[in-house]
Amino acid sequence: MRDLVQEVRLHPSDLIQPYFVHDRDGDTPIDSLPNQSRLSIPSVCERSRTFYQNGGRAVLLFPVVDPALKDAFGGEAHNPHNLHARAVAAVKAAVPDLAVMADVALDPYTSHGHDGVLNAAGDVDNDATVQALVAQALVLARAGVDVIAPSDMMDGRIGALRAALDDAGFSGVLLLSYTAKFASHLYGPFRDAVGSGGVLRGDKKTYQMNPANAGEALREAAEDIAESADMLMVKPATFYLDVLYRLSQSTTVPVLAYHVSGEYAMLHALAQQTGTPFAALYHEALLSIKRAGARGIVTYGAEGVCLAGIMGNTTPHVLTKHT
Ligand code: PBG
Repeated sequence: MRDLVQEVRLHPSDLIQPYFVHDRDGDTPIDSLPNQSRLSIPSVCERSRTFYQNGGRAVLLFPVVDPALKDAFGGEAHNPHNLHARAVAAVKAAVPDLAVMADVALDPYTSHGHDGVLNAAGDVDNDATVQALVAQALVLARAGVDVIAPSDMMDGRIGALRAALDDAGFSGVLLLSYTAKFASHLYGPFRDAVGSGGVLRGDKKTYQMNPANAGEALREAAEDIAESADMLMVKPATFYLDVLYRLSQSTTVPVLAYHVSGEYAMLHALAQQTGTPFAALYHEALLSIKRAGARGIVTYGAEGVCLAGIMGNTTPHVLTKHT
């Protein structure tokens, strides 16, 4: 009866797996992000294929850019043969039916670690950054990406991206806007993974949201929807379930959530400290996100959940050996 009346369930197709791809032969573990590695392009293709066969439907790719290619303007983002574009093309060729999403922002490419280009005062220049993001997105669209996911939080970028993609013949490429991305302290392991943390000068408070604000998220969403975003994202997830709930109640545009690197690492730390199975903690976290209204969840353990099959929601222990 408990199963019969259960309100939300997790399904592998709810989950989006992020992958970090580097331009090397082997895979290297990311110390601060348990069970995650920077992967070679062939490895990302292999993992994507298995993920798809196990019910996963979308992956989100992030490039780990060679420090020698970084500069103040993130110029490598516009190189049509950059690592990100090659990875997108390779995964699309290997698993054509899997949706390939690509994060768009300049932080993997800039020598200062910010998501955009800086003005003379050292602040991110909104409008100049929007132009750079458009060029970055067009490179990925030409490589065959299905979904562009701008994570930069500049104003006006959704409209500019939509217009540029349409003009270039990519009207079928969707926009997943990071609508409510907070200036959170939970991104540390991600910044380690892509190498943007050590170099970051200052913080991202001039463009990412204040953790104290929820109403602001609704205003951000209204702008993104007016500019024709196809999906919205709240990030991080578990500290911001109220925002997720309010957004998902107030719009018919699908709202997704990003269970970020720090949230994932935190559960591993608790599991290690207390002996509570990671799978049980993870399952409960994902259910809370679904309950708050997320249509999909970007999360580092997606692969593990999919390998375990559809999560029988009363038996989270099936995950233990995979995650
Ligand atoms: C960068 C970006 C970040 C994340 C996704 N895209 C980090 C940041 O804003 O510094 C974080 C994801 C995570 O922590 O898992 N634009």
